[in-house]
This record gives sequence, C-alpha cells and structure tokens, in this order.
Amino acid sequence: MKLVLVCLLLSIAIPFVVQRFRSNELPLNNVLSVKRLPQKTSLNASLLLFTEDGDLLDVLQTIRSVEDRWNKRFHYPWTFFSSEKLSSYFMEATSSVASGNCEYVQWDSTEYFGTGLKDTMYYLERSEKLSGEGVKYSRSGSFHRYQEWILHSLLYHPQLRFQYVWRLEPGLRFTCEEELDYFEEMAKHNATVGFTNHVCETRHSGILELEQSLNKYEQEGMPERPRTAWEYSTEDTYCKFLPYDEIISLKELRGNSSLVQLTQHLLNEGGIYYHRWTESDILSAVLQVYNTPVLPLDTAGYIFRPDINHCPDMESGRCACYLED
Ligand SMILES: *[C@@H]1O[C@H](CO)[C@@H](O)[C@H](O)[C@H]1NC(C)=O
Ligand SMILES: *[C@@H]1O[C@H](CO)[C@@H](O)[C@H](O)[C@H]1NC(C)=O
Ligand SMILES: *[C@@H]1O[C@H](CO)[C@@H](O)[C@H](O)[C@H]1NC(C)=O
Repeated sequence: MKLVLVCLLLSIAIPFVVQRFRSNELPLNNVLSVKRLPQKTSLNASLLLFTEDGDLLDVLQTIRSVEDRWNKRFHYPWTFFSSEKLSSYFMEATSSVASGNCEYVQWDSTEYFGTGLKDTMYYLERSEKLSGEGVKYSRSGSFHRYQEWILHSLLYHPQLRFQYVWRLEPGLRFTCEEELDYFEEMAKHNATVGFTNHVCETRHSGILELEQSLNKYEQEGMPERPRTAWEYSTEDTYCKFLPYDEIISLKELRGNSSLVQLTQHLLNEGGIYYHRWTESDILSAVLQVYNTPVLPLDTAGYIFRPDINHCPDMESGRCACYLED
C-alpha cells in the first residue's frame, strides 16, 4: 500500500521536477522563454502586458486574478513587453504564478523613438495649449513615446507572432468566474477587436485634430465621411475602446493593409506628440473609420481603478464586484 502511494507521489512529482529542469532560462537574443503547463486549445493566442520592473506587484495581482478566474482552464501563454531590461526576480515571480508559457521581450526601441516628432517648437506650443485645456500628460515626453512604442509593437514587432493578444494593464483584475474561451469567441465572430467597455474623456482640441487628419486622408476604398474618432456621448465627451482590457486580432490588424496604412499615417503625422493622441485614440479611430468588426465582451468583469471597471451579471453570483452609483 505504502509503495503504491510512494509511486503515485513520484509519478506526480517527476513531471514537475522535469518541468523545473526544462524551465532553465533560454536566452534567445532579447527574448526569454519559460515553459509552464501545456496550453489546452490550439488557438494561437497570448495574454500581453506592456510593463516594466517597477510594476511587479501590480503585474502579479493581474496574473493571479486572470489565472484564478479564467486562464486556469486554458493555460494560454503570457507575453511581457518591456522597453527596459526585466530583472530575473521579475521573471521568476511572474512565471511562477502564470500557468502558461511565459515570454519576456525587451525591445530596443531607440530605433524609432520620436519618429513622429519633427517640429519641436510646434510641440512645445501645442503641449502648452493642451495643458491649458487640462489634458493630462500633454507635456510628458515619456508618455508620448510610450504611446508610439505600443502602436509600433502591435503593428510590427516580430515576437508578437500570435493570431490574438489579450492586452491587460498591470493592476487590472478579473472579478468574475469565466468559463468562456474568449479567444475562441473572437475566432467564431471573425472579430478584429474584442472590448469590455468604453472609456470616455473630455474632447480636447487634440481629438478635433485627429478627426481633421482622418478627414484629409485619402485612400482607395475609404468609407464615406464624416469620420468620427469613435462616438460621442455628449458634445464634449469622446469615447473609445478601453485599451487596458481588449483582445486584438493581430492577424486581422496586421494583415489588413488599409488598417496598417492609416495607422502608420497617423503615427507619421506626429499627433501623438503635438495633440496628445494616445495609442487607443488612434486604434479606435482607425477601426471606427473602416467599420471593423468588433465583439463586445460584455460578460467579462474586471476592475482596474474605482472609476474604470466593468461589473456584469451581479445577480448570478459569478462576479465579486461592487459598484457605487
Ligand atoms: C502562430 O502563428 C504564427 C504564424 O501563423 C507562427 O509563426 C507561430 O509560430 C504561431 N505561434 C504558436 C505559438 O503556435
Ligand atoms: C467567419 O469567416 C469565415 C471564413 O471567411 C466564414 O465562413 C464565416 O461565416 C464567418 N463567420 C461569421 C460569424 O461571420
Ligand atoms: C480591412 O478591414 C475592413 C474592415 O473589416 C474591410 O472592410 C476591408 O475590406 C479590409 N481591407 C483589406 C485590404 O483587407
């Protein structure tokens, strides 16, 4: 009886020992991969975080909640993108919580930083004006570069070779028990973007500039004007996809020359610098202009900040969230 038990324990333990052994760090240029449990579906998809070392606590909370609520069923891989080197402590801590393969990518972004920035005087003048309008981060160069960096990565980075990525912001947590394979839902609906909800902000003068750029843009097969940068709840409010919790079909995005060309055009315009366009302003506008198929992920609950959250299905007991009116 005892022998059976020992054998049983060993047969459970050995794969783990082997797994730990295999998980030795594999330096692949600037990509590091740690193998975890095998994925349960054949979909080519990954959870994706743009992050840095200092976000570790937030990142761990995000991974833990996404694993507990959803990914424990699928073991989708995780991809971490950083513009700076991630410490081995960061990689050990995150890969021990993730149930799927983990990849850490450091991208040397110096190549294209500031490509959209051509007129520094205009930049100073405009950021002053936006700052006067009360637009957050309008004078933060690192914020602007970060927006550019994310869009470039989504469009071109070779390590993002997945058909789908689910973008999660460090600190975001899932609040509902999730049975659905959302990547599969995306595939079923041929959707280019899956989004939980919209985020709205005051329509500043930079957004008007974005719409003017869209209206001036000519390309064969462009849908008719007016080209709004998503939808307005009111005259002064601008609403777009929440970028912190969205699924993007990179295959549809990268494979569609119209979408790529317009996005690249807006990057070249430099509005990220002059008009504080964010990556999500640009992406939302591009998708809206082309009437791209989107899928609302209504049932996926999350909390990011008290004012940025989505709490579906309160009665079902599936979700542990609380919203103040
Ligand atoms: C996903 O698909 C791409 C291209 O179709 C392929 O190069 C890549 O290896 C696939 N990734 C996985 C994890 O299967
Ligand atoms: C998705 O695309 C496939 C192949 O193009 C097509 O057969 C299918 O009907 C489409 N599904 C939906 C829901 O549009
Ligand atoms: C790009 O996507 C849009 C929206 O789905 C579609 O209407 C258009 O035909 C696509 N263009 C190309 C070149 O695939």
